[in-house]
Amino acid sequence: MRQDSLFDDVPTPSNIRRIDEDRLTTLKNQIRHHDHLYYVKDHPEISDGEYDRLFRELLDLEQKYPDLITADSPSQRVGAPPLGELGKVPHERPMLSLDSLMEPEEVLAFDQRVKRELGTDQITYTVEPKFDGLSVELVYDQGLFVRGATRGDGAVGEDVTINLRTIRTLPLQLQTDRYPDHLVMRGEVYMRLSDFHALNRRMTERGDDAFANPRNAAAGSLRQLDSHITASRPLVVTCYEVMAMTGPLPSTHWDELERLAEWGLPVPTLRRQCETIDQVLAFHRETQEQRDHLPYEIDGIVVKVNRVDWQTQLGMKSRSPRWAMAFKFPPRKEITEIQDIAISVGRTGTLTPLALLKPVEVGGVTISRATLHNADEVARKDVRVGDTVRVERAGDVIPAIAERIPIPDQIRHEPFQMPDCCPICGSAVAREGAYVYCTGQAACPAQLKGAIEHFASKTALNIDGLGKKTVAQLVDQGLVKDLSDLYRLNQEQLLKLEGFAERSSALLLEAIARSKAVPLERFLMGLGIRQVGQHIAKVLAREFGSLDAIMAADHDRFQAIREIGPEISDSLVSYFQEQSNRRVIDQLQQLGVSIMASRSSQGQTPLPFSGKSFVFTGGLVSLSRDEATALVERLGATVSSSVGKKTTYVVAGSEAGSKLDQARKLGVQILDEEGFKNLLNASGPL
Ligand code: IVH
Repeated sequence: MRQDSLFDDVPTPSNIRRIDEDRLTTLKNQIRHHDHLYYVKDHPEISDGEYDRLFRELLDLEQKYPDLITADSPSQRVGAPPLGELGKVPHERPMLSLDSLMEPEEVLAFDQRVKRELGTDQITYTVEPKFDGLSVELVYDQGLFVRGATRGDGAVGEDVTINLRTIRTLPLQLQTDRYPDHLVMRGEVYMRLSDFHALNRRMTERGDDAFANPRNAAAGSLRQLDSHITASRPLVVTCYEVMAMTGPLPSTHWDELERLAEWGLPVPTLRRQCETIDQVLAFHRETQEQRDHLPYEIDGIVVKVNRVDWQTQLGMKSRSPRWAMAFKFPPRKEITEIQDIAISVGRTGTLTPLALLKPVEVGGVTISRATLHNADEVARKDVRVGDTVRVERAGDVIPAIAERIPIPDQIRHEPFQMPDCCPICGSAVAREGAYVYCTGQAACPAQLKGAIEHFASKTALNIDGLGKKTVAQLVDQGLVKDLSDLYRLNQEQLLKLEGFAERSSALLLEAIARSKAVPLERFLMGLGIRQVGQHIAKVLAREFGSLDAIMAADHDRFQAIREIGPEISDSLVSYFQEQSNRRVIDQLQQLGVSIMASRSSQGQTPLPFSGKSFVFTGGLVSLSRDEATALVERLGATVSSSVGKKTTYVVAGSEAGSKLDQARKLGVQILDEEGFKNLLNASGPL
């Protein structure tokens, strides 16, 4: 016996392999667990660094033993070799579409029919958002994700299994061991609006075409032959229908969703059971009101008879079920005419063509202009002055021109051309890929105005009362020629501006003076360095601790930071190399701007929220997440993305998700929007 165990301890190749194999299994389970906490629950328990270490170890072991790589390994999310074409797969069940209803009367008629056919007045409906993405079939065998396909023609779709594996919200292995042997589901793949905008920015900066809307972006990203591209795109998935499963079926749609959630699958958080059709109409109304505040696009609600036996009894038509329907929102696409194409100059000097439209109402908002992004985009869409176009509005996005509508026999204007000089200051323009820049920098009033507005904005120096109109006057009257001039302004000068009196000018000067004590990350953000937004500014502040250290850093030093790639480090280096930028920073400091490494180290009187920490979840109606964050940070609080024992408040807006559950579990105080506002008001003047 003793001899045996001694033998066991000898590191023979097979022993080592067995130990590595066990470690690999542990790593896979740990990473899966942390993926679920991070991507689905939105509640990470380990740092990014620790996660990276686990992942690295997994990759190393898999490289050592390629035969141990399994389909459910988290490493398989990063992409597989490119395909020649997407394969075709027959669906296990036909993927039906839904009848679309637009009017409440049609919904009442649907309810009447359902009641008549079932012979009862007691119908419960489950209602949920109609996600505006693309529909997919998802198959799990023995809890393992084995196949996924697009809808295709409803009978046969395209095999996008390896692409779907890259989506972090989709579990490769179901949780708990009570899942069915075989599970076929339907869900929607889509892109969150903020991710869509960021992706479009990246695409256009690289000179690629922007996607017209989040749905196209999701479809284009999922139907890639190279899954590495899909892996680099921020897709999410939500499951909303069981198409087939072994074992006992849940008796209602609601229970189906609950069951899916138990297995770790993402399901619609914004769902409700309605006992009456009036409650369905109310959900439609409420959801439509929330629509512009949701982080993703929806184009209506889906209404489903809750009881599964009644669904079976109602059956289906040739292409749609008779127990469900889509109750759509009014379309956000309308047709109008391009009256002119103007050029706007942004704070970084980019010249952007802007279509001036004959005003048209799109989804309740009057649209009179739409960005055309850049010259390539104008050429690709082939839009000219006088053309008839379809405009659309995706969420809170600046409206975009979806397409030109050709009118037969119409005589068209000449194609649009970008100007050779800046329409604001007359400086020559420079070209960089699809982009055209004004070379005037601070000498260009448009760039200077943009730079000052950005510097004064809430997330930067937060100078109250320094809005667009005032900035325009300060620049146009020659009072401010660079950022440092803000701190040279006096009351006499302000009084000469339109709309300024004793009190308003005193208030503005006070606000400017207050902004002099500024945390490093806000100052960095305020400088308006290309590619340096709030997040990167925070990373830099945390990493370097002082502006001097940042200004002294070189390319390699910046790139050694995980979040910083070559483009950002290029941008930082060239910004700080520019003498005029260094001069302005120097002047700002001489005029009393004091850049603080961290608020707490300055020994100031404690702010009302000092020591408190906030977590925001769901959408707020009266202010954006950024504004709410800026507000509480200004009052001394910290804001975190996950709820922990040390969280003081969780502010839950509409569609609050798992963070709310976590707050309840940990007994953290939960505030709704009203409660949050009361708390802010109680903290004194902001
Ligand atoms: S249920 C048999 N639920 O809307 C019913 N569909 O034609 C299957 N969609 O392409 C669909 N959100 O992809 C259902 N919560 C939801 C949905 C939803 C979006 C899509 C679906 C389909 C289209 C309707």
